[in-house]
Amino acid sequence: MEKTTQEQLLFQDLADQARVAPPTKTTTMLSPVHFFSHGSTMMLGEESESASYWKQCGDDALAHGVKGIVMMGAHWACVGQDKIEISMNPKPGKSPVAYVHPSKYIDYELVPDLDSGEKCIRLLTDAGFGVNANDKFDWIHDTYLILIRMFPERCPPTTIISMNANFDPHLHMQVGAALRPLREQGYLIIGSGGAVHNLYRNVWGPMLRYSDNFAQECAPGDWAMDFRQAVEDAFCNNSGPHLRRAVTRLMKHPTYRDAHATDDHFMAATFVAGAAGSEDDSGIYAELKAETWELTNMCNSQFSIGRWVSAT
Ligand SMILES: [Fe+2]
Repeated sequence: MEKTTQEQLLFQDLADQARVAPPTKTTTMLSPVHFFSHGSTMMLGEESESASYWKQCGDDALAHGVKGIVMMGAHWACVGQDKIEISMNPKPGKSPVAYVHPSKYIDYELVPDLDSGEKCIRLLTDAGFGVNANDKFDWIHDTYLILIRMFPERCPPTTIISMNANFDPHLHMQVGAALRPLREQGYLIIGSGGAVHNLYRNVWGPMLRYSDNFAQECAPGDWAMDFRQAVEDAFCNNSGPHLRRAVTRLMKHPTYRDAHATDDHFMAATFVAGAAGSEDDSGIYAELKAETWELTNMCNSQFSIGRWVSAT
């Protein structure tokens, strides 16, 4: 009798379960992350494969209702252990750029996103950073060049994140990791730096004499080709935490110092690896979507990780 009762209860339980609708998967939008190599100032005014790809990414973001842009560039660093600054200037100016006609940028209206800036400050403070709101910072071409190319009609609300002048790749990776939750809220995270970016080893003659930044009178140096390949391998053959390790480790590559005389244009790569390299990002690999060589030895590679799709 007891056995029958247990069986009845079991069957009843199974029957109840069968009547319950299967659990619905909760889906959240997870935006992509871009590592863009902005190159020289002339990339603002000249057409290139990279510029076309930036526009494509901008169109894609608008089509998916991007809420705002959160970008780390390569020209703004703050001093102090674990310090990071957030652009909170309500009326930022633009620092001027050489070799670009002012009509290409002077009238473009920048749209600082102070509410999202506060959100970034909270996320970074919670992650242990010493965060300062900078209400005086004027934007530089490393970020507004990309914005103009991506969104020529109108700048979306944008927050600029500073680098830390110690140029510690792990710190910048952690900044990206702390801001990763914004990807679930419709923000587009972008790092603007350079894959191979050594101003001391560029061949400047054709640009200075003829305004030809794409002249390629000889092949790039072996060191440039080697490091460019290492960057592609690190981004495209690793995902999740492996991506973070691979990208931060690039600073130990034998040709790193040839490819980056200073560390500023590499930090955004580690920031991107942080934003797109959590356990939940495992299996989502970067793609090299466009590439433009300038000044013989400067390689402007454009990588994207993920797409505007729903993620479980
Ligand atoms: Fe730059």
